[in-house]
Amino acid sequence: FDCFTYDPGFTATASCKSNITFIDGDAGILLYRGYPIEQLAEHCDFMEVAFLLMYGELPTKQELETFCDEINRRSILDESLRSFFEGFHYDAHPMAMLVGVVGSLSAFYHSELNMKDPEHRRICATRMIGKMPTIAAATYRHSVGKPFVYPLVDLSYCENFLNMMFSRSSPNYIDPNHYIDPCAVKALNLLFILHADHEQNASTSTVRLAASTGANPYACIAAGIAALWGPAHGGANEAVLSMLTEIGTVDKIPEYIAKAKDKNDPFRLMGFGHRVYKNFDPRATIIRKTCYQVLEGCNKNDPLFELALALEEYALKDDYFIEKKLYPNVDFYSGIIYKALNIPVDMFTVMFAIARTAGWVSHWLEMMADPSTPIGRPRQLYQGPGQRNFVPIESR
Ligand code: CMC
Repeated sequence: FDCFTYDPGFTATASCKSNITFIDGDAGILLYRGYPIEQLAEHCDFMEVAFLLMYGELPTKQELETFCDEINRRSILDESLRSFFEGFHYDAHPMAMLVGVVGSLSAFYHSELNMKDPEHRRICATRMIGKMPTIAAATYRHSVGKPFVYPLVDLSYCENFLNMMFSRSSPNYIDPNHYIDPCAVKALNLLFILHADHEQNASTSTVRLAASTGANPYACIAAGIAALWGPAHGGANEAVLSMLTEIGTVDKIPEYIAKAKDKNDPFRLMGFGHRVYKNFDPRATIIRKTCYQVLEGCNKNDPLFELALALEEYALKDDYFIEKKLYPNVDFYSGIIYKALNIPVDMFTVMFAIARTAGWVSHWLEMMADPSTPIGRPRQLYQGPGQRNFVPIESR
């Protein structure tokens, strides 16, 4: 067994070569296709970033228009997919519905799939980006017992999502005066950009591993959604809001910091720490700044934001967090913004999934374009008993 490298959690293993995203965790640098996340966050529309991740270059105006048109055209769901939702109880977690319904796309799109054809693969990718907000909004509408809202061709990606979430119109009636708050659209656009990709994180690695077997791409994305759901990964944004609500007031912070440091207590400060960032998470810095703008723009004063700021300040003065290099990550402040946009807490990880779909499909495309990609098949260090003889049940 000495020939295997033991690396639980893959802390020191590069599983693939990739041209998509670069992270320098010590310097707090994140680049998509070479562009700093700060510049993309300031200047781009999420669709431009999705195009960049997928194709490697920022689009021209014409390319962006064509791309948005295509994504929009693919946002509509097959009518029979709606019946899938009816099988879910109203209180099913939206991530549970998302895993199931995205996985079910593999039953709708399979016979025409030719994975050897780059154009077929490209269509798969744009279809997934297009349909994800529609499915995501439907999980919410189902949970509150409201009729689904169709996507509209003349709305942008983020506008469409907000409209499908909150429009009072029925599927057959579109209220032409329905107001979509531009402040909410801007904030959502930013959050989607910041969450769009993060190299070989657990969910992207899951998508790659599943796809390395040649599995149906929609089933692979469903596998990625399942990996994202956990509180150590994308589920942290939901867990942060629950934690802040539980802490409640600034005077309780020391108690929770002590719990987080106590090795006999499983509690961790949610939204803190990162496998790769050991200085600061550049996405958290941008989101913290945006919280001020969004709360002001939406005219909301959220005491949880004050609490989060106080918690960060307290933790960053504590030796435990300093020594272990634990800083707020992307999920620490994102929930404050989602909350200000009236997104329910149990939808937070779904929001992450919508954005990360751009990254997942880009990695899938990159991997599928390389015919030499082997099946992902790690080994193990076996710790069980040595060979022994079978004992009949009467003699055990
Ligand atoms: N609160 C308290 N202690 C912590 C925390 C935390 N949030 N994070 C790590 N530690 C401690 C941990 O107990 C360990 O201590 P020791 O060396 O004494 O055993 C040390 O710091 C290293 O932690 P680790 O778990 O070995 O580090 P990791 O790289 O395997 O885990 C992490 C990274 C993000 C899973 C972890 O920091 C964590 O659980 N954070 C809270 C959950 C969270 O916010 N997740 C979102 C991650 S960013 C977005 C995304 O990936 O989707």
